[in-house]
Amino acid sequence: MKRLFCPAAAALLAALAQAAAPVSYYNEVRPVIQRYCSGCHQPASKMSDLVLTEYTGILKGGKKHGSAIAKGAPDTSPLVRSVNGALEPRMPLGGPNLPDEAVELLARWVREGAEDDTPAEARAPQVPKEPPSYTQPPVITGMAFSPDGRTLAVGGFKEIVLHKADGSGIQARLLGRSDKIHSLSFTPDGALLVAVGGTPARFGEIQVWDVASRKQIRSVTATADTLFAGDVSPDGKRVAFGAADKTVRAVELETGKELFKAGHHEDWVLQTVYGIDGKRIVSVGRDRAARLADAESGAFRENVNLLREKLYAVARHPRRDYILIGGEDRVPYLYTMDRPRALKIADDSTLIHKFEEQEGKIFALAFSPDGARIAVGGIASEAPIYDTESGRRVAACKGHSGGIFTIAFHPGGKQLATAGFDGVVRLYDAASGKEQKAFIPVPLENGEREAE
Ligand code: HEC
Repeated sequence: MKRLFCPAAAALLAALAQAAAPVSYYNEVRPVIQRYCSGCHQPASKMSDLVLTEYTGILKGGKKHGSAIAKGAPDTSPLVRSVNGALEPRMPLGGPNLPDEAVELLARWVREGAEDDTPAEARAPQVPKEPPSYTQPPVITGMAFSPDGRTLAVGGFKEIVLHKADGSGIQARLLGRSDKIHSLSFTPDGALLVAVGGTPARFGEIQVWDVASRKQIRSVTATADTLFAGDVSPDGKRVAFGAADKTVRAVELETGKELFKAGHHEDWVLQTVYGIDGKRIVSVGRDRAARLADAESGAFRENVNLLREKLYAVARHPRRDYILIGGEDRVPYLYTMDRPRALKIADDSTLIHKFEEQEGKIFALAFSPDGARIAVGGIASEAPIYDTESGRRVAACKGHSGGIFTIAFHPGGKQLATAGFDGVVRLYDAASGKEQKAFIPVPLENGEREAE
């Protein structure tokens, strides 16, 4: 038998070829840092002032040893010395040593000049010139009715699609940089539309749109990952939102200025709402807490809830400081926002009401405009509506073939809109739960628009 191929030689050749190619910061170094270092060396971390999640942070370095890299000289670079045992304390702090290949990768990158090869597209993703074309409906994670009740804004892929509120047609397509929109909110006067989203593992973005002219008047980039659902303040001047870097932040709409960045969560912050007076915010996330904070400074005040399971959604009663939360454990909980007295361990005295357990995790919650009803969306493909006060189920909105990620009551209170995984927007009569209209909110390449 003739041997065409020697595996050992092939492996050696592959290793040589790999060794010959310069180390890429973007494709090789960044993932190592993300995996082993970013937990403690990111902007929101209180462990160290050294930020390793951005190239500029690596260059700038830490208080003790200065720049983490000396280009061309791994032996004097703290980035390398901290992981190969030359510097105390050895990094990752308290964890197992870095695998030899990872240490060698960092050293080679520094030896080769420690260049930043982040592609231009990843640095500053562009607004598409043409509306995106779709072969299948996009997963929908953000949706909102305008205060005048005429428009339903729906988040698509790199765009927001404005629909007539009855689903009878598209008013406009607003193209933006973010792949995904996690929340849409109109200012109370209806003049501005604020989108919170981003492109996973790349950047987070706040988009501010002038509704009348359909022009984007601001794009604010924050963090190196997508941002999660936000809320516009009752005075229409600010937006608060959560991020995958565990922070809650707020941005001023007029200037784009970041007002604060608060690090009181221990995991991703998935949704944020303002209190009625705009002076407080409540944020929820994977750390299971609904955290009440000062809306001016972001300073943490107290936990609203007794910690149970991961939380994915929060909504505020339109007329009172009541907070509805839900997530992993499938139960919607209604709490008062403030505690009349100091928190005791395992105190759950501010719980007003526990609603019926859902068939799946909860991803979206909404109050009707008068606060009399709540609607629940999640993995279960129906969205039940409950009487807020009695907790009685009054309707169930059926039809989706997949999770519901966003729900909104029409400002008139008579309709509920739902959307999610299947890419279909459904409009229901809020009293009976009867479906009135179902439509795919983007033009599909094959021209389909009506959903069955
Ligand atoms: C569990 C938390 C944690 C992890 C993970 C971690 N570090 Fe650190 N790091 C720290 C703390 C805390 C300090 C400050 C230590 C001190 O000064 O005593 C620090 C300090 C440093 C410094 C010196 C900063 C200065 O002030 O000049 C470098 C360099 C460093 N870390 C690199 C890394 C690298 C590279 C990784 C990943 C391979 C990593 N660290 C992972 C917690 C961590």
